[in-house]
Formats: sequence, structure tokens, C-alpha cells
Amino acid sequence: MASEEIDDSLYSRQRYVLGDSAMKRMAQSSVLLCGVGGLGIEIAKNIVLAGVKSLTIQDDKNASIEDLGTQFFLHEADINKNRAEASSHHLSELNPYVSIKTLTQKLDEKTDLSYLKQYQCIILTESPLNVQLKVNRYCRSQKPQIQFISSDVFGILGQVFCDFGDEFEVMDHNGEEPKEVFVANITQGSPGIVSTLDNKVHGFENDDTVVFKEVKGMDCLNGHQFKIKVESPCTFSIGETSLLDEYKGGGIASQVKISKHFKFESLEEQLKNPALLHPDLCKLDAPATCHLTYYTLQTFIQKENRYPNVWSVEDSEKFENLAQELNQQLTSPVDCINRQLLRSICFTSQGCLPPLCATLGGFVAQEALKALTGKFTPLNQWLYLDAIEVIPQDPPSPQSFHKKGDRYDLFRICVGEEKVKELANTKLFMVGCGAIGCEMLKNYALMGISCGEQGKITITDNDLIEKSNLNRQFLFRPRHIRMPKSTTAAKAVLEINPGLKIAAQQHKVCPQTEDSIYNDAFFESQDVIVNALDNVEARRYMDARCVTNKKPLLESGTMGTKGHVQVIVPHVTESYGSQRDPPDEDFPYCTVKSFPATIEHCIQWARDKFEQVFVQKPQMFNKFWATNGDIEKVIKKLSNDEALEGSVKVSKSAYTKPTTWLQCVEQARIKFEKYFNHKAKQLLHSFPLDTLLSDGSPFWQSPKRPPTPIIFDADNPLHMLYIQSAARLLADVNGISWTPTDVDVTSIKNLLANVKVPQFIPSSKRIETDESASKGQEDSVISGNEEQETIQRFSKILHNNSNIQVSVITADQKPIEFEKDDDKNSHIDYIAAAANPCCFDRDTLTYTMWDKWEVYGNKDFTLQNFLDHFKAKYSLEPSMVVHGAKMIFAPIMPGHMKRKSHTMVKLLKPNNHTKYMDLILAFTNENDEDDDLEGPPVRYYFNL
Ligand SMILES: *[C@@H]1O[C@H](CO)[C@@H](O)[C@H](O)[C@H]1NC(C)=O
Ligand SMILES: *[C@@H]1O[C@H](CO)[C@@H](O)[C@H](O)[C@H]1NC(C)=O
Ligand SMILES: *[C@@H]1O[C@H](CO)[C@@H](O)[C@H](O)[C@H]1NC(C)=O
Ligand SMILES: *[C@@H]1O[C@H](CO)[C@@H](O)[C@H](O)[C@H]1NC(C)=O
Repeated sequence: MASEEIDDSLYSRQRYVLGDSAMKRMAQSSVLLCGVGGLGIEIAKNIVLAGVKSLTIQDDKNASIEDLGTQFFLHEADINKNRAEASSHHLSELNPYVSIKTLTQKLDEKTDLSYLKQYQCIILTESPLNVQLKVNRYCRSQKPQIQFISSDVFGILGQVFCDFGDEFEVMDHNGEEPKEVFVANITQGSPGIVSTLDNKVHGFENDDTVVFKEVKGMDCLNGHQFKIKVESPCTFSIGETSLLDEYKGGGIASQVKISKHFKFESLEEQLKNPALLHPDLCKLDAPATCHLTYYTLQTFIQKENRYPNVWSVEDSEKFENLAQELNQQLTSPVDCINRQLLRSICFTSQGCLPPLCATLGGFVAQEALKALTGKFTPLNQWLYLDAIEVIPQDPPSPQSFHKKGDRYDLFRICVGEEKVKELANTKLFMVGCGAIGCEMLKNYALMGISCGEQGKITITDNDLIEKSNLNRQFLFRPRHIRMPKSTTAAKAVLEINPGLKIAAQQHKVCPQTEDSIYNDAFFESQDVIVNALDNVEARRYMDARCVTNKKPLLESGTMGTKGHVQVIVPHVTESYGSQRDPPDEDFPYCTVKSFPATIEHCIQWARDKFEQVFVQKPQMFNKFWATNGDIEKVIKKLSNDEALEGSVKVSKSAYTKPTTWLQCVEQARIKFEKYFNHKAKQLLHSFPLDTLLSDGSPFWQSPKRPPTPIIFDADNPLHMLYIQSAARLLADVNGISWTPTDVDVTSIKNLLANVKVPQFIPSSKRIETDESASKGQEDSVISGNEEQETIQRFSKILHNNSNIQVSVITADQKPIEFEKDDDKNSHIDYIAAAANPCCFDRDTLTYTMWDKWEVYGNKDFTLQNFLDHFKAKYSLEPSMVVHGAKMIFAPIMPGHMKRKSHTMVKLLKPNNHTKYMDLILAFTNENDEDDDLEGPPVRYYFNL
């Protein structure tokens, strides 16, 4: 099947990450997967979703009750049916473009392996070591070599081994765009050191290859490639340059993607002398012990023809002795065997931890795709993951780990009956049912989370299923398109485990539902909260709710090839909000335009601005002249009352079109004033701090924050960065050339000294406050007045002194394409600089984010009593008390001093059922009068 036939909406996100040629190679590949248990099905699912030509699943085993706890495509009705045959139609459903084949014969030492020839990649799971060795030898004997992966989960241990041959070529080791930097200087030396212009961080790595162009003086470097060594973030060395001509100026160094070659060793060699990955820097000794344990386990199974018994001390002693023996056969024996780890793996080796299957399943599928495409650096050569942490610290009697003959047996072997029960009675709230949400739900279903009397999973997602979701949100099928994600996902996981207690909702989790649905009482009743969200704003909101209610939160997300997981535990860890994530997604337009509350809003705003100024405007300008001819014709048409689309904007744009570098700098500076100073002043003019909305609630309430007008400071690097990048972009759009000297800080400062910046004059312009309003053409209707002004502007351009030629005014502008991966142009600089003046610094007292101060009042408790509490308890003088966006007390506000004698009830106006309110306080800072300290949230209890 040619990749062109593939319906692209299904693959748009993946194509973006992998690129066309890799997608094509995948679509031509056949893969064999042996063993369709818990791990095998995860690998199969991921490979099918990613899309290959064909996947063959081979398994001679029949399904048993315990398979149901790890293998999500096997149901009760499948018990005693062949596992591959029972799973294949589920896999086919996931992706109609992948052909699924099944084989039910055993793969063992006697098998004739010639049938393996037809596959490009072979993945073995649940396979004895002697079979692995035999298949690996066969794969290596083929030309070209068949890519070989073996992987397994034994209780709390997961293992992956890759062998992609002696000469494996990786075309692109990281999938990222090549980087490029301007050169500031290259020394004559041994080695010669290259420094970057404006001390920009080059982002190169040791052994990267760069190619030079436009270098003056040391011309002979141009066009040549150099392997570099990183000397500092802004310098790198390129080898001998002492005999070259002196560097004079200019030059660009660009990274060259060089394909890398990897030499893999056979399984036989690697067993004795393993190349181990260290995935967890907190457990540096674990991989060596895990490898020895794996080797021992495979040897034990082969010798005894059985697994070590579950939690058998006798077997574990036997096992340990065998491990000591085998250790001496390794090229470098393990110095210090982690005995606890070794025994734990031995105790649980018959078990299987479903999340470990999920993790390794994702990993192995990716390695298979790397093997087939040559994209991204492959595993070289072993990965071990252990989950020793899931074993109870004071293990109950070994009895509690023994099998009971139900679907949880393999899980029970790892964690014990007590934990199985505890998880069954867990109340869990998960927000979002996208790709991560589907995976989580499946894992919960397999482990029986919330299947007990008291257990309950609540999920919410207000999205509907789209076609493009189907290649990664594996609970959904084409027939579910346009159906709600939450209810569909709930139904699908009930098929995996009918005992699950799950409530599916479609509410948004946001301030609007905070009182009615997901209120404090709701959070109180949960044991754990899970974020499975796709945007930073909702993550922050959930995080804040969990901090307020002191609930543990599991946070995770993916973006392209990257992902993150964060476990947040009250009083133990920091929270999600303690770190900043990259921006994403769209935001309601009015939030973006006038009320940026978060850094993401600011970046979105800056990006919009970029589009408008440097893309849309020039496009409109060019289209206008192309449609309407020259200026005289335009004036004539306008005078005849002909409506010309865009004439107002074009007349303004033409009137102010810069023709020199100085004008570009001037305009950049004026834009700065307009965006960062006047706009804030205008907002505060239109909406003074005490403005109320029509329902009486305050206008400036969270998440809207009142803006602070920014005073331009030429010594502030961010302010300067804005001017530099905006001026460069303006110049580029208008075809004005500039030199590196023009953009350096000193020359721009000199120019700025003479720029006249307009004063702020408040206007009565209406500001959009309705979040449902979307971006529209703002000046499509021209008022009579504006028409006259437009004609006047065009006439002036035409009749003004002749030193600016009309042809220059109407010359084509060059729309700029937004290119965020290309550092050399100033787009990202512009956006970073434009976005950053919006954020606010704040000092904090020393308290952790998990702290909350509590104050217990009564019906007569006055504001004075309240303020005194802080003086007495913390020696702090409150300088401000705020509830939501409502100012309760601010000494500088007229009348507020009188409030001290008022009761808190009068000031806060609680409802009959309100028990407490959360307040924000600021305190006088003794060290800095102008800068108040913000305290932790204060919960005031009314006790009425
Ligand atoms: C699987 O079950 C079938 C009958 O359903 C039986 O004929 C076959 O022998 C079983 N296979 C194994 C490996 O137990
Ligand atoms: C490059 O660096 C050398 C050594 O620091 C210095 O003498 C030279 O003037 C610099 N050249 C340029 C063009 O900046
Ligand atoms: C027209 O001339 C005036 C005065 O010389 C000048 O300030 C203005 O910038 C000119 N306008 C245009 C569009 O050239
Ligand atoms: C609050 O309680 C008072 C007296 O008990 C009652 O009259 C009033 O209706 C209640 N208000 C609300 C909003 O429940």
C-alpha cells in the first residue's frame, strides 16, 4: 500500500513529528510480534496505531482468567481461545490501513525459521532465552539484517533488548531542525574558537558538524564542514586555524545533519557484556543488578523448567546462589549486587504489573519504528525498568501475594491483596479523556482501580471525538466520531473490566463550575486527582484547586516527541504551578487581546500581533494595489463613493510606511509605547479598578488581572530586544536593508535618543469583554469621516514633496512567514520580548505553597480583630486584604480605614451555607516600602 493512499487526517500529528519519508518507510514494512500477553498487546496496539504495512502476531497460548488483568483485548468469553486469534479483530479495528495476520504455532528451538525472512523487524516477548538466541542469530545471518527486539515483563521488572546490526544508519538522530548562528569572531589558534554574535546561545553539542558561509577574512572556511567541540554556550572550537587569514567579520555557522552509524552486538555477546541504559539517575546501580537478575531468571527457568515460586524464600535463596555463580561469567561482574532488588524480582517474577507493560509497550513500539525508519537514536542496547517501589514496605504475609484464581492474580503477586483492595476502593477524578486519558483508564481497568464497594472513577471531558484523534486515542473507533469522549471512553473501558465503577461527565473544569459541580466538597471526597489535559491553562487551574484542597495530583502531557510526568503530593513535592511549561493552544480572543492573565496568553497575543503586523498587513497591502491599480485611480474611486476593501488600513500603512532604518527603529519604539504602556493605561481608563459588571460582580476578578503600564527602559534587555527585532522585521517587510551594526544595542540607543514618543490620550473605544466574540474584520465598515481622511491621506502621499516617490509607497511589501525553529531571524525574539513585559515578578514570604493560614472568627469578629491576628501571630502588618477580585481592605483606598470596625460578616457577605472564604493578603515589607509581601492563602472560617 502506498502511503499516498492513506487518509491524512488520521496521521497529521504523527506526520508532523516523523516526517514524510519515515512515514513512507513504515508503510512498506512488515513486523512480526511473538507473544500476545499484556506486554505484547501494548506493543501491537502502538505499532498498529502508528501504521505499518502489516503486523503478524504469533502466539500458541490460550487465554486464561489471569490474562484478563493485563491483556486489554481479551474478555471472559475468550478464555481457552488462542490469544492471537482472539485479539486480531480488535487490532484490525484500530487502523484499517494495517493488515493483521495471526500465527498460532509455537516458536521454539525446533522451529524452522525460514518464514522470518519476510519481516523487516521481529519482536519477541515471553520468549525463553534459548529461543531468543536462536532467532537473534538468524536475524543477524540475513542480508540485510532483520531488526531484532526482545522484551519482557517479570513482575516488577521490565526489560528491552535491541539489535539492529553491525552497521545501523540513523539518518536523523533527534528529529529537530538544524540550528544556525551568526558568527561574531573566529580566533587564529589551535584550536580556533568561534564566538556567536551578541553572545547568543548556539545550542550545538559536542561532535556536531557545522558548515560556514559568508565569513569574511577567514574566507577559506566558507562551504566547509567542521566537527566542533562546545567550549561554552556561546563559543565552540573548530580545530586548527592559526595559519588562516585573520577573521574580519560576518559569517553564519549552520548545523549539518550527518547520519550516524551504530554498531550493535549480538544477544550472545551482550548477555555477558551488556551496554545498559541508565533511565533513572536516582537508581544508578539498578540496571547492572537487573541485568544479572534477568540473566539468572532466564537460566533458572531453563534449568528448572519453571518460574521461582511466588514469594518463596527457599526459591529466592536458590536464585541468589545461581546469581552469584552467573555473575562470575560476566565480562565485568557486578561489584555490589542490590540484594533487595534481586530478591524482589525473584519473588514477583510470575506476576505482571500492567503499567509496566504499558510503559514498555510504548517504548518497544518506538524502537521498532526507529528500526524501520532510521529516525531518532535507538536504544543501545539494553533497557531495564524496575518498579520495586510498588512492593509494600512492610510486606504482609506471603499469603497475601498468592494467586486467588481471579483476573487480578498477576497484579496481586506484585503488590499484595491489601493494596489490590485499597486501590479497588479508591475515589479518583480524572480530567480529560484524550490520548493520555484513554491509556490511564485502560490501566485503571486492568488493575481494578475503583472496582470496590467504595470505589468510583469520575471522568470529565467536554470534547467530542474527531477523526484525527483515532491514531492515538485507542479507545475510540470511526463509529464514535462526533460522540462525547468521556461517555465513549467509559463504555469502552467497561468492556475491559465490567466491574469498574465509573461516572462520565462533560463539564468543563473551570471557575464557572467551581461552585456548582467541582466544588471543594467534591475535591474533599476524592483520594487522587489525575490531569489528562492538553492545555496549560486547565492544568494550572486544576493544580491550584488541588493545592487549595490539598489533594495529590498526577500530572502528565505530551508535545511532539517530548512528554512529561509529574507526581504532586501535598507537603512533599512542589506543585505543577511551581514550574513553567511551554505555551500551546488557542485562547479566547478577548482574553488574549486585552486581559492577558498568563504567560501563554501573552505569547499568543504576541504571535497574533506578529501575524497582523508582518504577515496580514503586507498581504493586504499587496492585494490592494494589485486589485485597485495606482494611487490616482484609488483616489478617484473613493471620491466617487466607491467602497474599496481595506482602503483605510492601506492608506494608514502607506502613509506611515518606513523608508529608512531610522524610521523602522522609530516605529518599533512607538509600537512599544502603544502596546505596553498606552494599552494598559487605556484599559485602566476604560475599566477603573472598582468597575462592576452588569451582575454586580467586580470586573477585575481572577483570571483578569489589572495591567501595569510599562515604562520603556533602554537598559532593559527585553525592552531592547523588542525594539531590535521589531525594527528588523519592519525593515525586512519594507525591503529596507540593515547591517549587524545597525541592530547593535549602542547604535539603536543613539537613534532612540531622538525619537519623539506620543503622549497617552484616553479614547472611548469599546473594549471586547465577551469571551465568545471572535476575531473579525474590525474596520470593514467605513464611516463618512474616515472616508474623507482616507482620501486625504492618499492625496497627501501623491502631492507631498517629491523626495518620497509614490512608486516606493505602493511597492510590494514582503509578508514574513512565521518560522519558530529558525533562530537567526528575529521572529521568536520578537515574540519573546513582546510576551515577557506582561509577566509580573513577586516576592514571597518564606512559606511553602502547601501552607494555608487559617483564622477562626465568629459573628462579631471585626476586620481589626482579623488584622490583629497576623500582628500577634506572625508579626506581620497586613497592607491589603482581597477576596477574589474584591478589595476588602486597602488603607490607601478612601473609606477603607473605617472598615476596620466592621465585622468580617458584613464585609464578606457570606451566604447561609458558606463556612469559610479564602482570602489573599499582602503584608508591609520592612525592607522595601514599595514592595509588599504576598502571604500564603488565608482561609477565614465564619463560625456563625
Ligand atoms: C487451546 O484450546 C484448544 C481448544 O479450544 C485446544 O485444542 C488447544 O490444545 C489449546 N492449546 C493449548 C496450547 O493449550
Ligand atoms: C577577534 O578576536 C581577536 C582576539 O580577541 C581580536 O584581536 C580581534 O580584533 C577580533 N576580531 C573582530 C573582527 O572582532
Ligand atoms: C508630507 O510632508 C510633510 C511635511 O514635509 C511630512 O511631515 C510628511 O511625513 C509627508 N508625508 C508623506 C506621506 O510623505
Ligand atoms: C438564610 O437564612 C435566613 C434565616 O434562617 C433565611 O430567611 C434566608 O432565606 C436564608 N437565605 C438563603 C439564601 O438561604
